[in-house]
Amino acid sequence: MSSGTPKPQVDTSKPHPARVYDWLLGGKDNYPVDVAVGEQLPEVVKRSARQNREFMHRASAYLARKGVDQFLDIGTGIPTAPNLHQIVQEINPKARIVYTDNDPIVLRHAEALLYSTPEGRTDYIQADVREPKAILERAGSLLDFERPVGLSLIALMHFIPDSDGPTNPYDIVRTLLDALAPGSYLMLSHATADYHRELEAPVTNAYARGGIPLRPRTWAEVERFFGGLELVKPPGLVSVDRWWVPGGAVPPEEPGGPAAVYGGVARVLTR
Ligand SMILES: C[S@@+](CC[C@H](N)C(=O)[O-])C[C@H]1O[C@@H](n2cnc3c(N)ncnc32)[C@H](O)[C@@H]1O
Repeated sequence: MSSGTPKPQVDTSKPHPARVYDWLLGGKDNYPVDVAVGEQLPEVVKRSARQNREFMHRASAYLARKGVDQFLDIGTGIPTAPNLHQIVQEINPKARIVYTDNDPIVLRHAEALLYSTPEGRTDYIQADVREPKAILERAGSLLDFERPVGLSLIALMHFIPDSDGPTNPYDIVRTLLDALAPGSYLMLSHATADYHRELEAPVTNAYARGGIPLRPRTWAEVERFFGGLELVKPPGLVSVDRWWVPGGAVPPEEPGGPAAVYGGVARVLTR
């Protein structure tokens, strides 16, 4: 993307996941339609959004410290500092990051994602995760898929409903993983109602009324995304607030129970 690209049209007539999430995080890049969805959501969802973001911070720093120096982040969201590249480039200024989202508002703000260190590089691709091959092809101009890549699918796949067709969420993730060299990593987080069963219907209904399909998944359903990979354990696949960096401090427990989002990091063993 070039910084001279014309500003994309943003549809303010219906809510969008990136803008609802921005509202949940206390951001300003949202519209009344998004606030209307956010205000119907229970407090635990707001807390989980922050804890999800903090998981991304810990997991991406963990991978950068392990030597991963290229990242493909799909479902990036509206820039919220620190963004993934700011975290990993602080550890390795040469790191390269390709961001991808399908929401025009993210494209509108993408310049904030392009302020890379001089030694590193960042790029932004406007694309839908349901077209993984197109994303891989475009990301290949900045990332070297013959070397390990950190694939980041943070709070994204619950927006992809179950389907038997080409947009089956597990097949999408498999296509992305198949492109990665051994030694690559998947960091993935995903909404769940396992700890808050009574909130599942109110939350999915609030999103559905705004035209956004949300598919919280159980632990076993989320773990399936990591099939064939080696989960970093401990901590394994846990609620994001319980995911700690191996060798690091365990985050303090917060009142109200676990976050409504699972998170895990796993290593790619073979292509
Ligand atoms: C909840 S936000 C998560 C943002 C960021 N990954 C984080 O966790 O802090 C989900 C993001 O996924 C994006 N998204 C939803 N469906 C998508 C799709 N089919 N293709 C690409 N991005 C999508 C939304 O636009 C939004 O920015």
